[in-house]
Amino acid sequence: MGGPSLDRVTARPEEAYNGLAMTVPRSAPPAPASPSANSSAPPAHMKRLDDLNAKALLGGGEDRIKKQHESGKLTARERVDLLLDPGSFVEMDRFVTHRCTEFGMEQQKYLGDGVITGYGLVDGRKVFVFAQDFTVFGGSLSGAYAQKICKVMDLAMKVGAPVIGLNDSGGARIQEGVESLAGYADIFLRNTLASGVVPQLSAIMGPCAGGAVYSPAITDFILMVEGTSYMFITGPEVIKTVTHEEVTKEDLGGANTHASKSGVCHLTAPDDRTCIAQLREMLSFMPSNNHEDPPFKPTQDPPLREVPALDTMIPIESNRPYDVKDVIRAVVDDEHLFEIAELFAANIVVGFARIGGRAVGVVANQPQVLAGVLDIDASMKAARFVRFCDCFNIPLVTFVDVPGFLPGTDQEYGGIIKHGAKLLFAFAEATVPKVTVILRKAYGGAYDVMASKHIRADVNLAFPTAEIAVMGPDGAVNIIHKNEIAKAADPVATRAAFIADYRERFANPYKAAELGFIDEVIYPRTLRARLHRALEMLKDKRDVNPPKKHANIPL
Ligand code: HXC
Repeated sequence: MGGPSLDRVTARPEEAYNGLAMTVPRSAPPAPASPSANSSAPPAHMKRLDDLNAKALLGGGEDRIKKQHESGKLTARERVDLLLDPGSFVEMDRFVTHRCTEFGMEQQKYLGDGVITGYGLVDGRKVFVFAQDFTVFGGSLSGAYAQKICKVMDLAMKVGAPVIGLNDSGGARIQEGVESLAGYADIFLRNTLASGVVPQLSAIMGPCAGGAVYSPAITDFILMVEGTSYMFITGPEVIKTVTHEEVTKEDLGGANTHASKSGVCHLTAPDDRTCIAQLREMLSFMPSNNHEDPPFKPTQDPPLREVPALDTMIPIESNRPYDVKDVIRAVVDDEHLFEIAELFAANIVVGFARIGGRAVGVVANQPQVLAGVLDIDASMKAARFVRFCDCFNIPLVTFVDVPGFLPGTDQEYGGIIKHGAKLLFAFAEATVPKVTVILRKAYGGAYDVMASKHIRADVNLAFPTAEIAVMGPDGAVNIIHKNEIAKAADPVATRAAFIADYRERFANPYKAAELGFIDEVIYPRTLRARLHRALEMLKDKRDVNPPKKHANIPL
């Protein structure tokens, strides 16, 4: 009420209508009102709509669009077009404008107010999207802008469809003050309520500063574009003032920093197009909401295919490294692993794949990095992934080759106890089908943690190379035979004999198989078939946790 009429918004010359109405989605020109009317000119009410649409499509104007392109970024509209199946985008709130009257803002209004919102299809499945438009006030968030985002989030929750945010924003719109802050909080609340109900994916495709990072942080996955995007709570200038540290934007919060150092970012891309392709593929592994199963993708790869190479892929020597991704790729459909957070805590591998057309979440210790040990970062990375899979009915396949938790003061002071407990908690709490295979080492508490039978894994397999014990033979004999070794005439030979005895007795899968903790010791070449059969058997699994308000995972 009382605001400027839509026809009069945007006074700047560069935003003038320049014929873009050609691209306005109005399928056919209207029929002339009467035989005498000019047949090429639309009626006045259509003309007005055409003009407004053209104005809205220009965002912050041609100059700023040019600047956006020059900085290596696509515009918000181009991103939405790439993300969604062609012609499927339905825009909402295209004519919304801000309500700010401070700092002469009433003279500067842009249709849409810096964010493009709506819904469309990805591979034929409904998704909701918001794309921040950096060409309008640097994509900064106003109250009206936040309401647009909240509107699509509310709809996404009602209809059970994912929300995808394409972020490119200078943060809170400074001229709006608390209205902008309130808008952020409205979004944070919805992010939180939607968590575990619909998948939420965030692509960071430009600046993302201040409180603006917290909406993406609550969502399930964060993707960042290298070189053009960054995320931080406070920028380099503030850091310099407060701590006297000097750091560039890139080093502080660029894609590689968050992918390798902080673990905030799950996937990086060299450019906008690749990032959007990654978003589309990521969605293909997940259902639209927590009541659905992930989409089935038929495969030509025979589900019962034997993999002879697996018989020799795991080195017998328990300390020899190998790449667990070779094992994973050998057994999943078309050898395709969609890895998440590859550069962070590489001692554990997590990602999506398919077996027999069914999406699975893969968790695997990586003997090639830090011997596959569980440390703080690996525990947190895997725990969050396990919980995502459990939220969205994605079965978990766990590959175990773990020497235990990483010892040391760094880890203890850093809280390995509570962080390791996160992974234990996540696996124990998960009610999705859980299939585990022990490839080689499964020592100590890490054996329990890595989806063991005892924390409700459904099918537990082991290779003949599996060693399931409280600790490795070397450490064990040093403790339990300390005195005998010290007193022996030939300590080296005595120690070697004790190690051989321990290995024979404990460092194998047969004791666990005897106790029913391992369901089957398998020929490695049959692993794909075994996993497929287990997942088939479990496809209708229903398991529930006791009723409660929510669990209290050790944070
Ligand atoms: C209003 C903004 C803006 C903002 C940028 N613009 N940020 N307008 N509010 N927050 C406008 C600029 O005035 C400019 O307008 C246009 O966007 C492009 O900005 P440039 O500075 O020319 O672009 P660039 O050099 O690429 O730098 C981008 C930037 C920088 C790094 C994002 O603009 C910047 O530092 N902005 C402020 C970031 C910030 O501190 N935000 C507040 C964070 S605190 P014209 O008209 O010239 O095109 C926060 C609290 C949220 O977000 C709390 C929630 C709980």
